[in-house]
Amino acid sequence: MTEAFDAVDIIRIKRDRGTLTLEQIDWTIDAYTRGAIADEQMSALNMAILLNGMDRTEIFRWTAAMIASGERMDFSSLGRPTSDKHSTGGVGDKITLPLAPLVAVFGVAVPQLSGRGLGHTGGTLDKLESIPGWRAQLSNEDMMRQLAEVGAVICAAGAGLAPADKKLYALRDVTGTVEAIPLIASSIMSKKIAEGTGSLVLDVKVGSGAFMKDIAQARELAETMVALGKDAGVNTVALLTDMSTPLGLTAGNAIEVEESVEVLAGGGPSDVVELTVRLAEEMLACAGVHGADPAAALKDGRAMDVWNRMIEAQGGDPRATLPVAKESEVILAPADGVLVGLDALAVGVAAWRLGAGRARKEDQVQAGAGVRLHAKPGAQVRAGEPLMTLLTDTPDKFDRAREALADAVVIAPEGSRPAQQLIIDRIA
Ligand code: URA
Repeated sequence: MTEAFDAVDIIRIKRDRGTLTLEQIDWTIDAYTRGAIADEQMSALNMAILLNGMDRTEIFRWTAAMIASGERMDFSSLGRPTSDKHSTGGVGDKITLPLAPLVAVFGVAVPQLSGRGLGHTGGTLDKLESIPGWRAQLSNEDMMRQLAEVGAVICAAGAGLAPADKKLYALRDVTGTVEAIPLIASSIMSKKIAEGTGSLVLDVKVGSGAFMKDIAQARELAETMVALGKDAGVNTVALLTDMSTPLGLTAGNAIEVEESVEVLAGGGPSDVVELTVRLAEEMLACAGVHGADPAAALKDGRAMDVWNRMIEAQGGDPRATLPVAKESEVILAPADGVLVGLDALAVGVAAWRLGAGRARKEDQVQAGAGVRLHAKPGAQVRAGEPLMTLLTDTPDKFDRAREALADAVVIAPEGSRPAQQLIIDRIA
């Protein structure tokens, strides 16, 4: 086959801060997906994009080309609105678990295609797989049936959805090119648009535990994704939320499921409840449902009923005992005062090193591993009191987890207050 362009010319254009034409972008994504552009060439192009950026027209076309690389799903036959949430990833971010059944309570179908954890951020599928029997892999037909019968599904994306992104994301992961706004925005939005959701709420994380470390970058990412969604006819809203400290009191797999079930039972940590309710309100409004009271549906058991049916529909036993780590070690507060900092990245890396996450795609995660927090920023602490418990099946991992946490804790004199605010901004 005669190729329309030469990969080296495309790389040179971006290297020299030029703009790619629509035809060049279409060819690049198509040629890479079918193997006509080599990984080393695509790595060089990704790095040039990371360093020199892309304009909006390039990003829109890059996203459209990724969507066109695979199938598009269509939920219109369900006869009710659909809404999805996507988080850019963080530590202790289990919000999808209570959120999907909660939104379904109000008659909005929630097709939640989720991923596995890589590096220090956890993956929703890894968390749910700690429930005995639960299956992440569903056919498109099973997914449709579950959406019609239960209203919510959390499952792995099938191989047919945006295959260009699967290849590109794996390459970016091993070439230091994940943190490029055009590449993150097109990666996330190509999957969400191909999935066929009618509306979408983006939770763009900001802080040490997130891809975006500062608010300006996070805002640019959010604005780009909202524009991409709207352009494709998906009603899209983004919240910028804090990821300088973990969400809730757990970072791991089974322990995050346990905390999510507490939220579904009307309890749970206040930050997890606040974000779950706020995202539910945004999803319902985007789907055209007004006047709903999601906080009440957590308190009165309606969200829990949908959760139980959602887990059972995928082979899981929602009442089964969750796996527990074999070994634990407690970390004590070094001084008296107010806990003003508990670094999300450090806790995420510790949980990962304890076995909750994976370094390579093929690694197994430990269901019971992770970090349980006993205090959150704002709490009064006394020297010698437990601050966190480290959990693992393999005690030789404790030392490396402790190393990750060496500078994670900041205790200030009595009367000090932490600076963080959970919901930072809204972009529509
Ligand atoms: N999540 C994705 O799906 N893609 C990215 O590029 C980053 C986070």
